[in-house]
Amino acid sequence: MSGPDKTQGLAGQRLLLCVGGGIAAYKALELVRRLRDGGAEVQVAMTAGAQHFVTPLSFQALSGQPTRTTLWDSAAEQAMGHIELARWADRVIVAPATADLMARLAHGLADDLVTTLCLATTAPIMLAPAMNHRMWQHPATQANLATLRARGVQVVGPNDGPLAEGESGPGRLAEPHEIVAALAGQAAAQVPQDLAGLKVVVSAGPTYEDLDPVRYLGNRSSGKMGFAVAASAARRGARVTLVAGPVQLPTPAGVDRVDVRSAAQMHAAVFAALPADIYIGAAAVADYTPREPAANKIKKSSESLALDLVRTPDILAEVAAQTQALKLVVGFAAETNNVAEYARRKLEAKRLDMIVANRVGIADGGFESDQNAMTAYWKDGERSFASAPKTRLADDLMDLIVERLDA
Ligand code: CTP
Repeated sequence: MSGPDKTQGLAGQRLLLCVGGGIAAYKALELVRRLRDGGAEVQVAMTAGAQHFVTPLSFQALSGQPTRTTLWDSAAEQAMGHIELARWADRVIVAPATADLMARLAHGLADDLVTTLCLATTAPIMLAPAMNHRMWQHPATQANLATLRARGVQVVGPNDGPLAEGESGPGRLAEPHEIVAALAGQAAAQVPQDLAGLKVVVSAGPTYEDLDPVRYLGNRSSGKMGFAVAASAARRGARVTLVAGPVQLPTPAGVDRVDVRSAAQMHAAVFAALPADIYIGAAAVADYTPREPAANKIKKSSESLALDLVRTPDILAEVAAQTQALKLVVGFAAETNNVAEYARRKLEAKRLDMIVANRVGIADGGFESDQNAMTAYWKDGERSFASAPKTRLADDLMDLIVERLDA
């Protein structure tokens, strides 16, 4: 079902949250949770001051990523250098932005991790200031604010109200839900709506073929790629139906989700979702299913057991064979060897417009990983995508799909 509108546009976004040293830093914890609920990937960097108020571990627990605290951490730098982190971000949020941090940003200082990241990134920056109201109203802070705004920095808050010191005035950190709404609005405005008016059906995840009431044949597909593809299409304005096999993943914002278990159910759900303009078969559909699932639990009797399996309908090939409105049919191929050859064979045999192949069975890639490398093939071309998070790959793949639609 559709996600809350307020977070629409955040799914799959890579957000770098820079936390400054103020008492409002505790609210940044809730901000991380809300951003992740909206489907964003969040990495957190903290100033030294921020660590007096909240621990890096708290952010780590909520973001699911190591919290960055210094430029001089060789282990963290080796995993992802600070320049790489600055480039990784789609957007940077500074919350709370203290008077000191705003001054340092306005003057382009790079004397700690947070200011260096803000100077090194080309991503849009959003500030959520929080400070004593006299510090906020001081001409120095207001001049810094004007400088930052003139450079395109977006500012949310501060709100007027009671402050930590017992005083009252403008200086309260904007509420996490207000920051999320501002970010989501900005995100939606940035994404090209080039799939507006189109219907996209995506299949994702594995299928489970029941052998008896307690056992099934399944596979290791995580569904992450298909979910990322559905999220990406929805962000670009498409109406998206996501037919999902059994996976525990949150529904991307703005996507209609239909949960299924078996290949037969997936087949029915996909055809019920048609007609569509684009079909993307990212599911790892079982090729075989038991001829007749046992009504009762199969008991062990002899030394070996032969299963009687029959072919499942090839959903992708059937979709590609019917012409109702479909402008583009995209398949996926997971191969352990001869990737290009097998992929091109499937492209032709199933009469697809495009096939996206990846190698499985290698370290750091494939089914359960968040990362992947892949190559898309079409009749007279191909494009390789270097190993990247699946959310990024999905956006790059969607760029290609839009290109091929227009081709
Ligand atoms: N697919 C499908 N219905 C099936 C089987 C596969 O729609 N019953 C789709 C998948 O969603 C994917 C593509 O077909 O887009 C995978 O192709 P397939 O030839 O089934 O791949 P493998 O099962 O890996 O084939 P093989 O074992 O022959 O390599």
